[in-house]
Amino acid sequence: MNTTIFYFSGTGNSLFVAKNIASRMEVCTVHSIASSVPTEQIGGKDEKIGFVFPSYYGNLPRIVRRFISELNIHPDTSLFGVVTMGAPMGMGNGCAVALEQALADKGLKLRYCNGITMPRNYILKYNPLSANDAKKYNRRANKRIESIVGEILADKSMIHKSSISSDYLYKNIEALDHDFFVDERCTGCGICEKICPVSNIKIVSNRPEWKHRCEHCVACISWCPEAAIQYGEKTKKRRRYHNTDINISELLR
Ligand SMILES: Cc1cc2nc3c(=O)[nH]c(=O)nc-3n(C[C@H](O)[C@H](O)[C@H](O)COP(=O)(O)O)c2cc1C
Ligand code: SF4
Ligand code: SF4
Repeated sequence: MNTTIFYFSGTGNSLFVAKNIASRMEVCTVHSIASSVPTEQIGGKDEKIGFVFPSYYGNLPRIVRRFISELNIHPDTSLFGVVTMGAPMGMGNGCAVALEQALADKGLKLRYCNGITMPRNYILKYNPLSANDAKKYNRRANKRIESIVGEILADKSMIHKSSISSDYLYKNIEALDHDFFVDERCTGCGICEKICPVSNIKIVSNRPEWKHRCEHCVACISWCPEAAIQYGEKTKKRRRYHNTDINISELLR
């Protein structure tokens, strides 16, 4: 059976999970949600399509919702979701309900959705884990992915439901990136512009400028090789996290 996985990832956790799921399936292709939306109809009776993405306030990242709204999926396709999240329980689980609704809006039925706890990456709100502590999560995730893939392959029907979610990132979009700035360490290398999944950064006179359609994916601040990007004063003393099994080149646009 053919499987297609669409993933969205800011700091690499969801790409790590998507690749890992794909490696355990017979025929599986992995596509970035940040690249173009397929124009032709996809899926069919003997096909599976999966969505792998991070929980943002227990909700779908806006870019994932947009992508799904533009997809043309055959209604007989078996659909699954795998959400990566920082908390073992809690807001992350609201994603299943949000994904189910986004697909239902297209006349599609979600068959399976589960979650995997990965390192918390939201540096704008707290200090992320050290690389050493974070590595343990990848090892643990391998086991969990094995069991999730077993359930997907067995065509299990299961959705972990919770209604706890927030639409914070769907409001005041213009203001979400006002607190980003660069300090004197910026070399003008342009990596932040290339890693932003929604082209929200433009290099002007060798410095990044944020264009006010930010997803809060934290890719720019987390992958800047000089740790030159700050968000207000709080991030100056915080670690930069990105998944240690993912290379930056896999996320550059
Ligand atoms: C804007 C934002 C909101 C988040 N909200 C939640 C949340 O509500 N619940 C949760 O468990 N983790 C939350 N997290 C943590 C991420 O979901 C988690 O670290 C995820 O694995 C990151 O995936 P990525 O590396 O593929 O970007 C949030 C992270 C960000 C950046
Ligand atoms: S990635 Fe960092 S160093 Fe490079 S241009 Fe952006 S802010 Fe400057
Ligand atoms: S500006 Fe930074 S945080 Fe906002 S979407 Fe782009 S990479 Fe993500």
